[in-house]
Amino acid sequence: MKPLAFVLFAVASGASAQSMDPTFVDQKQAAQVTGEQIFQHICQGCHMPDAKGAVGAGHYPALANNPKLAARAYPVAMVMGGRGGMPPFGMLLTDAQVADVVNYVRTHFGNHYTDALTAEDVKPFRPPTPTPSRGH
Ligand code: HEC
Repeated sequence: MKPLAFVLFAVASGASAQSMDPTFVDQKQAAQVTGEQIFQHICQGCHMPDAKGAVGAGHYPALANNPKLAARAYPVAMVMGGRGGMPPFGMLLTDAQVADVVNYVRTHFGNHYTDALTAEDVKPFRPPTPTPSRGH
């Protein structure tokens, strides 16, 4: 019973925190996922867990030791808008989550770019999106 009670409490307190923002309730924002988790759930499927990329059914460039990540705007634009075989993730992730996953990739896998991005830095890259839907 204890774990369930804890979950219910977490959900209830999360819901009340969310209700303070009248604009848009988004479960993903309440979930507090880290950049590492976003990488593992989204990016590594194509770029591989070691971020070294893959060539096979498509060409997935390495993010490891990638000098193109020196420019913060480049990976942000890729994640927000996609390009070629890279799908856009702007609609799936919040500004903070885009910043988190880009910060994660830019400071791991042999990359040492420590000028971290914030949600505010990322916002201008967001392509125009249709009105968010509450889903099913
Ligand atoms: C469905 C497969 C797929 C997923 C998932 C994916 N990517 Fe990509 N990514 C690609 C492909 C393909 C390219 C090359 C696109 C091109 O150059 O046309 C690419 C390119 C990139 C580049 C540019 C690399 C370079 O050297 O030019 C970055 C940065 C990048 N991806 C980051 C990410 C991040 C961060 C995530 C997770 C949020 C992610 N990708 C998820 C397929 C994917």
